[in-house]
Amino acid sequence: MANIIVVGTQWGDEGKGKVVDLLAEHADVVIRFQGGNNAGHTMVVDGEQFISHLVPSGILQGKTCVIGNGLVVDPSVLLEEIDYLTEKGIDAGPAKIRISERAHLIMPYHKAVDLARETMKGDKKIGTTGRGIGPCYEDKATRRGIRFSELLDPETFLERIEPILDDKNFYLQNYLSAAPLEKGPIVEQYAVFAERLAPYVTNVSVEIDQAVREGKQLLFEGAQGTHLDIDHGTYPFVTSSNTVAGNACCGAGIGPRAIDGVIGIVKAYTTRVGSGPFPSELFDDTGDRIQEKGAEFGATTGRRRRCGWLDTVLLENAARLNGLSSLAITKLDVLGGIEKLKICTAYQHKGKLIEHFSADLKVLAECTPVYENLPGWDEDISAVRRYEDLPENTKNYLRRIEELTETKIGIISVGPGREQTIVLENPFE
Ligand code: GDP
Ligand code: IMO
Ligand code: MG
Repeated sequence: MANIIVVGTQWGDEGKGKVVDLLAEHADVVIRFQGGNNAGHTMVVDGEQFISHLVPSGILQGKTCVIGNGLVVDPSVLLEEIDYLTEKGIDAGPAKIRISERAHLIMPYHKAVDLARETMKGDKKIGTTGRGIGPCYEDKATRRGIRFSELLDPETFLERIEPILDDKNFYLQNYLSAAPLEKGPIVEQYAVFAERLAPYVTNVSVEIDQAVREGKQLLFEGAQGTHLDIDHGTYPFVTSSNTVAGNACCGAGIGPRAIDGVIGIVKAYTTRVGSGPFPSELFDDTGDRIQEKGAEFGATTGRRRRCGWLDTVLLENAARLNGLSSLAITKLDVLGGIEKLKICTAYQHKGKLIEHFSADLKVLAECTPVYENLPGWDEDISAVRRYEDLPENTKNYLRRIEELTETKIGIISVGPGREQTIVLENPFE
């Protein structure tokens, strides 16, 4: 029996959805513990692509999927996803999806504030997904949030929303020069959401605990990545939640003794969407080539992802912060055909060598990456299913990642499809 956390090690979009979908075969319950529909997790099964923003990626394997208390949930997006899955013949009913009564609701004013703030910031914008994530977590912290338990009680919902909306409208109109929102349509719309979602809402902590007592296996699905973590990432160019493995317990309502392992998902190169420092970013043909071959467009906003070389300063940070037990390397196929590969192993700043990720954004912006060169490979590896069949230079690249991160590789992904994977170590066995 094992309970496993999966997290992104870079700036998101490492391929968490694919790996969680793959591992979910061996799990009984798949749990999201933070973030919201800023996430875009892609699964490809029998050639068909599914993108999920809120529902955990275990849904395609028919597993119980939990939306933990640590999430901020846009109910309209969740219902769209439920409808979409149902249309595809996938069971997305209350027996399969469980929502924490403590999860916070994203309200229309959260989205309005997110968008208006970004517009106001101009060049200095964070490049958020515009889904209202930051403003919703902000209200959670200042105790002005509305939770699912309150959504289900119309009287309480009305009592809560009235003063909040007054405050938001004042801010929207007078500070952000944005249009105010009317209470009536919001109350009506959220009453419909309440009716539809009521059967899904529960005390997930109790249900997860029951699953553990029954010897069931849990799989925790991280969203975003370690360097978008509100504490440990490139603040303020981060998301508004803790994305590291330590938050899995808090965001699901379970104690740390239940956890047996943490898998860090590592894209074979680095990407980032939105603003913020990115020391190993490429601005040349190689960067464009990786972007095109890797189809690096955001799964949520469709924005072109910035691309660069693999950076093991990031990975060392991620291994330590998450306590990684193993790595899953994804998109290795994308590097095929590049003659010389580089790995950034440290940064140089004002004559000093930096080996640990800095909190200082100026240092990160001014530093130059220190690269190690490795020979590439020409072969198309997307059909390879056994480690032994990988080209020698591919194996060298993988071995070097293990050495630099002092962490073993357990999974290698060579294409978007569920089957395009080499599993060296199954964490559930
Ligand atoms: P997530 O947010 O971490 O779940 O990642 P995304 O789904 O946003 O982005 C990863 C993208 O890479 C998706 O389009 C996946 O289908 C795709 N992908 C995942 N693994 C591989 C792989 O090994 N090779 C290739 N070529 N694509 C992959
Ligand atoms: P997945 O789970 C990549 C980025 C945004 C922006 C910053 C803050 O698919 O890996 P937010 O809307 O969260 O306030 O935006 O975080 N961001 C992501 N980048 N993948 C994600 O999720 C992301 N979720 C948020 O682009 O820079
Ligand atoms: Mg994504």
